[in-house]
Amino acid sequence: MPPASDPTHARPDAAPAAHQAARPEAPADATGRRTSDAVVVVHRSGPLQGEVVVPGAKNSVLKLMAATLLADGTHTLRNVPDIADVGIMSDLLAAIGVTTTSPAPGELILQHSGDLVPVAPYDLVERIRASINVLGPLLGRFGQVRLSLPGGDDFGSRPIDMHLSGLEAMGATITLEHGDVVAFADRLHGADITFEFPSVGATENILTAAVHAKGTTVIDNAAREPEIADLCTMLVSMGAEIEGIGTSRLVVHGVEPGSLRATEHETVPDRIQAATYLAAAAVTGGELFLRGARADHMDMLLRRFVDMGLEIVPQHDGITVHAPERMRSIDVATLPYPGIATDYKPLIVTMLAVADGVGIVTENLYPGRFRYVEELCRLGADIRTDGHHAVVRGRPALSGAPVRAPDIRAGAALVIAGLVADGTTTISGVHHIDRGYDDLVGRLRSVGASIERRPAR
Ligand code: UD1
Repeated sequence: MPPASDPTHARPDAAPAAHQAARPEAPADATGRRTSDAVVVVHRSGPLQGEVVVPGAKNSVLKLMAATLLADGTHTLRNVPDIADVGIMSDLLAAIGVTTTSPAPGELILQHSGDLVPVAPYDLVERIRASINVLGPLLGRFGQVRLSLPGGDDFGSRPIDMHLSGLEAMGATITLEHGDVVAFADRLHGADITFEFPSVGATENILTAAVHAKGTTVIDNAAREPEIADLCTMLVSMGAEIEGIGTSRLVVHGVEPGSLRATEHETVPDRIQAATYLAAAAVTGGELFLRGARADHMDMLLRRFVDMGLEIVPQHDGITVHAPERMRSIDVATLPYPGIATDYKPLIVTMLAVADGVGIVTENLYPGRFRYVEELCRLGADIRTDGHHAVVRGRPALSGAPVRAPDIRAGAALVIAGLVADGTTTISGVHHIDRGYDDLVGRLRSVGASIERRPAR
């Protein structure tokens, strides 16, 4: 089908797409607080014991959903986590013309006929960073797109200059108009692109633009996260030609627009959710089997957890962790994969807050990503930040208090802190946690945590 003639306006005849959001978000009031938000109430818990099934990765599934724009027909995604961001991405894709349904838990069907509106509106885009991932597929396939500049977690400035300069190197004309990125290209062409930093999002957008470009695109210093390899695997199953999957040099041989086909794909397990349950076992001195977790995707983190005194046993179908009575402190620096992911950091800081000794944590990706430290200090943690370093002096236990989740991972870290805090810890801002965690409360309770979710008063 031809693309919409004007990317600034939705076609008046575009039918509203039926979709089923995974978990709709509550509306926000003027202060940004979700008006029907819940709270999570945690009491100090004994050693967690048992098995947790690790859901699919948020940072993969949202990109897989965007990639379905590349081929008409019916796509099936499996191991889809029940998280709010999947619902938000479904809403965004619905505005573009994709119908999303969830016939069974963990399964998402995405359908479209190629009759799409290449416009990503502000009210949806500002809610999740991953909305930027529709840029590459829409531009590569339809030659035009209008996308509001993205939002996402509030942990500092997150520019998209590498996304845009990569697309320009492939022949796109890009302007910024009234807060929107407006991009055109008759047909993108292959290019040699070297990123100055291995950006996850930029790698994904160039990849999904390049699959339909004329000629070969080489991406050097590409991000190597397992979620990018997952996206590449899905693109290949759709008919894309990609070499170097899992490495920092991706070579994409463009195929004719319209030649990709719909596919079925299973989402890679979520290494950040897996790390959250490892942290829960660690602070309570417990023993858990994390079914589905991939030790090969978490290698560096698991090594450092071993340095802290955790016993980690990778299995063919998961990871077993056995925690000591008290962990040892270590120093940690975040780096792009295969280094320690910045998303693990609030969990590591929480573990260090109750470990034996002093640990220094260095953030190398997002300067502002220490905002949750104040909340941890409300729970009695001894943490000082200086620029992009945090010095964490371990204490035997924390002390329960009301705290507010500032973003997804920090919210989960506050829940973990509550497990080792005397008394009661009440976490508000739970909508942040819901964006990326599939039933964190239920999963923790099933292995012995004293935790519940209550409506906010
Ligand atoms: C993704 C993840 C996020 C994770 C991050 C790093 C999703 C939805 N989010 O975010 O959870 O913390 O990877 O592992 O998958 N940058 C630029 N210019 C650009 C692009 C990025 O300066 O054009 C900077 C960013 O501001 C940041 C750093 O590069 O400081 C990393 O960004 P990037 O790897 O692109 O992360 P995201 O894809 O946004």
